[in-house]
Amino acid sequence: MTAAIDDKGMGALGAADRRYNGVAMTLHWVTALFVLLILATGLAMTPLTEGGRTTDTLVMLHASFGFSVLILTVLRIGWRLTNRPPKLPGGMPAAERWGAKIAHFLFYALLIVIPLGGWVVVSVTPDQAPVQWFGVAELPRLPPPPPDQQKLVAERVADLHGTLGYVMLALVTIHVAAALRHAFILKDGLFNRMWPGR
Ligand code: HEM
Ligand code: HEM
Repeated sequence: MTAAIDDKGMGALGAADRRYNGVAMTLHWVTALFVLLILATGLAMTPLTEGGRTTDTLVMLHASFGFSVLILTVLRIGWRLTNRPPKLPGGMPAAERWGAKIAHFLFYALLIVIPLGGWVVVSVTPDQAPVQWFGVAELPRLPPPPPDQQKLVAERVADLHGTLGYVMLALVTIHVAAALRHAFILKDGLFNRMWPGR
């Protein structure tokens, strides 16, 4: 059983140390919303991209939210490194503590690697129409690989991007299940650390 988050479980920590701060919460929930939209558009647009088209509205939205997540994640990692997150409750089983730490680390890694991969995919063919960021700016293009390797790079990176997208979907499912378990079964207050206003 996971211990409730109280002064006993947390040691002598102040109230501010028991919750994520406003910046961390905002970055978490905006990213969460964007990731859900990215996964939905990613899965919906798969048939559209079979011919290699990257100019459809769906792809534009997918890439725009994805690119935004990349920027938000860079900022978020910077914030995370300079702002200590609240400590996990003292009575939480070691396996769960490690599970949470590994899952959170994996999230940050995927939130960087997946959008970078997507960015490579839309950059790799120099004569392809540029992808717009929400229709207001062009996504900058990464330098293309040598012409004889473009097709191979595009295919390999697109495969990896898609596969890691599914890994992200699986991780989100586990993460949400764990969050809901804390909120409704354990009722140990852990969910509220990330929920504004309480
Ligand atoms: C959909 C994409 C999501 C991603 C990528 C994501 C990612 C993360 C990450 C990286 C952390 C760790 C924060 C840190 O300590 O640095 C975290 C914490 C948390 N997330 Fe999410 N999350 C997502 C969605 C959700 C959803 C939908 C819920 C609720 C149903 C949720 C509930 C929580 C809670 C309660 C914590 C705090 C855990 C703790 O106190 O240790 N997340 N999330
Ligand atoms: C967190 C960020 C992202 C996630 C989770 C994600 C996820 C996905 C998923 C699940 C698919 C469908 C894969 C399949 O069914 O085979 C996909 C496809 C795609 N994504 Fe992303 N994506 C992200 C960011 C981006 C970004 C930033 C771009 C472009 C700048 C992008 C461009 C593409 C393209 C072009 C495809 C189609 C690839 C193909 O031809 O197979 N994605 N993505």
